[in-house]
Amino acid sequence: MCGIVGYIGNKKASPILINGLLRLEYRGYDSAGISTIEKEGLSLMKDKGRVKNLYNIEGIDNLEGTIGIAHTRWATHGKPSKENSHPHTDNSKTFSVVHNGIIENYNEIRKFLSEKGYSFYSQTDTEVIPNLVHYYYTQDVQTDNLKLLRAVKNACFDLKGSFAIEIICKDYPDNMIVVRKDSPLVIGKGDGENYISSDIPAILSFTRNFYFLEDLEFVVLSRNDITFYDRNLNPIKKETKTIEWNASSSEKDGYEDFMLKEIYEQPTAIRETVGAKFSEDSKCEFEELNFSKEYLESLNKIYIIACGTAMHAGLAGKNAIEKLCKIPTEVDIASEFRYRNPIIDNKTLCIFISQSGETADTIAALKLSKEKGAKTLAITNVIGSSITREADYSIYTHAGPEIAVASTKAYTSQVVLLVVLAIYFAEILGLENSYITSLKKEILELPKKIEEALKNSEIVKDFSKKVYQEKDMFFLGRGIDETVAKEGSLKLKEISYIHSESYPAGELKHGPIALIENGVTVISIMTDSNLVEKTVSNIQEVITRGAKTLVITNQNIDVNQFDMVIQIPDTNPLVSPILSIIPLQLFSYYISKEKGLDVDKPRNLAKSVTVE
Ligand code: F6R
Repeated sequence: MCGIVGYIGNKKASPILINGLLRLEYRGYDSAGISTIEKEGLSLMKDKGRVKNLYNIEGIDNLEGTIGIAHTRWATHGKPSKENSHPHTDNSKTFSVVHNGIIENYNEIRKFLSEKGYSFYSQTDTEVIPNLVHYYYTQDVQTDNLKLLRAVKNACFDLKGSFAIEIICKDYPDNMIVVRKDSPLVIGKGDGENYISSDIPAILSFTRNFYFLEDLEFVVLSRNDITFYDRNLNPIKKETKTIEWNASSSEKDGYEDFMLKEIYEQPTAIRETVGAKFSEDSKCEFEELNFSKEYLESLNKIYIIACGTAMHAGLAGKNAIEKLCKIPTEVDIASEFRYRNPIIDNKTLCIFISQSGETADTIAALKLSKEKGAKTLAITNVIGSSITREADYSIYTHAGPEIAVASTKAYTSQVVLLVVLAIYFAEILGLENSYITSLKKEILELPKKIEEALKNSEIVKDFSKKVYQEKDMFFLGRGIDETVAKEGSLKLKEISYIHSESYPAGELKHGPIALIENGVTVISIMTDSNLVEKTVSNIQEVITRGAKTLVITNQNIDVNQFDMVIQIPDTNPLVSPILSIIPLQLFSYYISKEKGLDVDKPRNLAKSVTVE
């Protein structure tokens, strides 16, 4: 999705802005641009294509301005083009604006402004913003130093939809204004300089001290000050939060791609996420939570709501909660949940999973659940993200920044955190038993076992070389393994562009088996001793029809019947996705590399999906 960077300080802004945009590239985008305040007025340099194309724009090296805004655009309204790229300016070229989000009533505003004599050069919804600010600015007869802020505020109150906005004005060379509503934006506090970004990693090398904004809080930045205002423009105080991620965690550290680095970071991510929540002989503790036995006993249902990979982690969470706590648990896709009038009341706990904490559908589903009286618990990887500000409770995965679009370490960290949460609930409910004791032991051994699973890398790479030109693949599993089949199939689609389907292995014969023919690749996961024989029989059915087979297993099976078998360490079935997904992550990665694709920035995808 679109990315925003801003800088105000004493250094030349343009290199800092472009550097910030380069760090936001992973979010997905199709055009880029910057605007600075120069002696002679506003500069505006933008084009479709990659951020590095900005270096080819004539005059970019001559920019001297020490205040500027920048943007990577992911087209929604209007195709990728120079005109539609941000920043946008008003007719009089007094204001430059970058915007993330969607202005739903932009047609109405465009009509209003056209009637007042304004004209438009782009097809974007954003272009109404600088013109509307200009309209209010020129209507205001007062000349005090809040005039610009008032114009921005009045314009924002006319906007429907979601927005994170940065504005500079040639009349105010020492100020920048920012505001957000339902779209991410953070402020990084420096020394004599300040930074804006839609994402923490882009400015992490400049500062660790961040301010997070609530909806419709307005901010005026100068070189030495940051002043916050509420929606009525009353000054308010805010505290900075220190982000512990270190800047090098947003670098590749010698790996060819972020995705590979993040796959290899999983032992650490799991270790950090489990942290000190329990030891083998102590109960689980979450300092952020205070659930009582009475409350948990009163629950008639738990919903786990998320999108994509996070939803797949939710499926593992359901398995753990139902097994350990005996509370009925449903997993829902956020974009469906928000429109299907779900049955929720104060006896429902809704758990929302989001790596970024900024996914628009998940946030909307959370707001709906709150309105209907449920308690809400967010699981995210980003401190201060929007979802944590909406939820009643927030707990964190400690995976560090995930830069590759295809989620890997966030998924396994979410699975482990959900299982630990299930143990925490079970212990409050008084359901602890020897099964939980041994599960805890297994959880503590996961980092070591992930390292073991990663040793299959070369075998996976070899198999990838054999099948990377395929058009279709199938992922099969039963029980918990079927949830991993889903995630494996999604990973493959995302970064290799190979069509794939995932199915419960027993369901294949009810239709999809018609697609199996000579040479089709079928990947199956078999980690549950109770189900392994059944899955083997299903795989026999596809072998008979000529399929090539890859099996991921921790069971003792006759390996000779399959084309390739990858052995992973044995563990408790509740956490087995954390090990069985490893070869599948590597498989997608190597196929994508073999095809020469951009692993970290797959086409059409965005890291953080902040629009509906
Ligand atoms: C897949 C992937 C997506 C995200 C989904 C939700 O690799 O990354 O499916 O899982 O867009 O994103 P978050 O977790 O940020 O809410």
